Amino acid sequence: MDSLLIKGGVPLHGEVTISGAKNAVLPIMAATLLTKEKCVIRQVPNLSDVQFMTEILQSLGASVRFDGNVVTVQANKVKPVGDYDLIRKMRGSICIMGPLVGRLRHARVSLPGGCIIGTRPIDLHLKAMKGLGASIGIEGGYVDVKARRLVGGDVFLGGRAGPTVLGTANLMMAATLADGVTTIESAACEPEVVDLAYCLSKMGAKIVGAGSPTIVVTGVKELHGVEHEVIPDRIEAATFAIGAAATNGEVTIKGARPDHMHAVLDKLSDAGVKVERKGLVLTVKRGGRLKPTDVTTLPYAGFPTDVQAQMMVLMAVTPGLSVITERIFESRFMHVAELARLGAEISIEGPSAIVKGGRKLSGAPVMASDLRASAALVLAGLAAQGTTQVNRIYHLDRGYEHIDAKLRGLGARIQRVNQQ
Ligand code: UD1
Repeated sequence: MDSLLIKGGVPLHGEVTISGAKNAVLPIMAATLLTKEKCVIRQVPNLSDVQFMTEILQSLGASVRFDGNVVTVQANKVKPVGDYDLIRKMRGSICIMGPLVGRLRHARVSLPGGCIIGTRPIDLHLKAMKGLGASIGIEGGYVDVKARRLVGGDVFLGGRAGPTVLGTANLMMAATLADGVTTIESAACEPEVVDLAYCLSKMGAKIVGAGSPTIVVTGVKELHGVEHEVIPDRIEAATFAIGAAATNGEVTIKGARPDHMHAVLDKLSDAGVKVERKGLVLTVKRGGRLKPTDVTTLPYAGFPTDVQAQMMVLMAVTPGLSVITERIFESRFMHVAELARLGAEISIEGPSAIVKGGRKLSGAPVMASDLRASAALVLAGLAAQGTTQVNRIYHLDRGYEHIDAKLRGLGARIQRVNQQ
């Protein structure tokens, strides 16, 4: 199993280019199941989650080619049943449900797994499919969704923690081929939902309102092929920005979309970090002394839960008391115990983490528990004195393309080591 060995204490300096967004590409790859025609997707990051999605589409009967950063899919014939173990491995695989139901009126998928961050139910996905007239059965770990006719309807998709990103994606995709009009209320507004809607529209779907809480989809008879380039990964861009600030370096981030990053950039500014924007280029460094701050994770356009763990590292190196409140996933604090191994002083009070920042971090062996927690441990290792070994980095490879190579390009002393 691979680990990352980091010799910390070196400020990050230089330029890094952002890859395509994992959370945009997974539903867009699933959307290719909605047509028999060829779909070409560009700027696809080479990630293990993308490999999984490739295998899932293949197991459903599609032909998929992954060449450089281009994925070409042709789904002439599609089966409604996905490979149980493949789907179980990745939470994002739930988004094949909508396209299968749209195209075949039938989907049989295993209950998805993924990062262990809370219970992550799929009740809203099922409510979405029921809203189009489908019936749901659960048997032997499989969810069976069937509809004789798929009919548009009004569906309220707000849950306990607000809207659901992939639930919105699923409903939008199934509704493109339903009869009549579907109105999604309390839809997720994330840029990845907007990118999916844009791609679907290019395939011939009729979608209005993506990016707002009300999305209206008018069903069409069929969709056709598409060429689409996915948006840059705002979470990766935020991770490098925080890395620059936490190590007291200066990093130029190219190919980012600052217009997708308002909440993060605003909080970085509160924290004493200077971000210069020039089109799609961000230059990030400390603007003087770092300042303690408070952050609450919220649905878009609020502060993303996927940047919470990384932000905690910046707070840990900032003298004073900072607070993070997690409102999306209740158990998303697994990184706290690991950051403590490096000397960070963090306590958990209900949904909040209180960070007593400013203590010197020193390297230690740590264990990655989920994707973004892993990124936080890498940032903490870079900021700490001495050597940090981050174990179980397969989580990191799910969501960050060539992170070790990109960090080496910024001067970090980081090596991938294989431990048998
Ligand atoms: C997506 C992202 C993930 C991000 C999350 C929140 C992808 C591949 N993953 O995950 O990186 O952390 O959005 O921004 O795009 N919920 C329910 N019932 C459901 C579905 C969700 O209660 O049926 C709850 C979840 O437990 C959570 C909240 O809704 O509390 C938001 O989850 P959701 O937006 O669905 O996350 P994902 O789409 O799975």
